[in-house]
Order: sequence, then structure tokens, then C-alpha cells
Amino acid sequence: MQKIGLFYGSSTGNTASVARLIRQALLGHGVAQDNVSMFDVATTGAQGLAGYDALVLGVSTWDIGEIQYDWADAVEDLDGVDLSGKKVALFGLGDQFSYGDTFQDAMGILGAALEERGAQLVGFTSTAGYDFEASRGVRDGQFIGLSLDEDNQPELTTGRVQAWVEQITTALEL
Ligand SMILES: Cc1cc2nc3c(=O)[nH]c(=O)nc-3n(C[C@H](O)[C@H](O)[C@H](O)COP(=O)(O)O)c2cc1C
Repeated sequence: MQKIGLFYGSSTGNTASVARLIRQALLGHGVAQDNVSMFDVATTGAQGLAGYDALVLGVSTWDIGEIQYDWADAVEDLDGVDLSGKKVALFGLGDQFSYGDTFQDAMGILGAALEERGAQLVGFTSTAGYDFEASRGVRDGQFIGLSLDEDNQPELTTGRVQAWVEQITTALEL
């Protein structure tokens, strides 16, 4: 069984609570409790990423297109960390109505930093059902992970998480 590292950074608790939901959904899809370890990057940093077979990483966007600040520090820790071939599923928290030009930018920033170190992103999702102008978290018309908006669409979060966890259990070969 693969060891999954579930790391998140969260300034007001939204990404943290979605991380707990995702953990529950993984357990519901048959992943053993001992095989999912959850960490707040504010406490652990990101050097531990390399020690897991598969990664699920949660990040919010702040300050108009910036990566959440604990992740900003954690990404610096990644210098020299080799993530070659490691599969990573990203989930992002943002606010599409107040920040429609920078919606989910942090997913794009984190995704690029991981790919530079050899990681392979999985779990891309459709932009249908969202209303925004621009996002660094979109590539070829798809989000590069799961996009969640607790500010405007909290009622959609559980269903989006369930569908995505099903998708990534296949992509991460869990
Ligand atoms: C000052 C401020 C700036 C923000 N900037 C963005 C942004 O540029 N893009 C975006 O998608 N969301 C933005 N957000 C929304 C947050 O990402 C959103 O509220 C998220 O759920 C916070 O998650 P967290 O509590 O886990 O950090 C911003 C929120 C605030 C208060």
C-alpha cells in the first residue's frame, strides 16, 4: 500500500477543514488510516514531501494572486528536494467572485514549483461551474487540481471532494 502525505497550508482554516474532508474521503475509498499522514506546513515545512509515495497538497491563494504564506516558506524548503516521478494531486481554495482575475493562482504557483523538481501533477478538473476571468491554476482549459470556493460555493465542496478523491485514487494508484 502506498504511503500518502497530505500537506496543507491554511490562514483562516478553510484549507485545513477541506484537508480533513479529503482524508475522510480517502479512508472511505479503502485507504488504510495508517497510510494517510496529514500535516500543516506551518508546523512541518515541506522537506518531508519526498518521504511519501504519493502526495495530496492543499493551498489557498492570498493577497491577490499570492501563495498562502506558510507555503511560500515551505516552497523555499524544497530547494534541493528531488520529487522526480512523484505523483502529486493539488487542491486549491480561492474566492472566484472577489478575486476573479487571480482565482486559484496559488495552485499554479505551487504546481510549477513541484514540476520544476520533477513531480507529476494528477487530478486535473473541469472549470465548468465556476465563474472567473483568469487563473494561474488553469492549464489547457482545466484546473491543474481540485478547485474549491468556500466563500461562494460551500454547498458544492463535499460533492466536488467525493468525485475528485475517486478520480485521484485511480491516478495515484492507491
Ligand atoms: C485579503 C485576501 C486576499 C485574497 N486573495 C485571493 C486571490 O487572489 N485569489 C483567490 O482565489 N482567493 C483569494 N482570497 C480568498 C481565499 O483564498 C479564501 O478565502 C480561502 O478559502 C482561504 O483559505 P485558508 O483559510 O485555508 O487560507 C483572498 C482572501 C483575502 C481575505
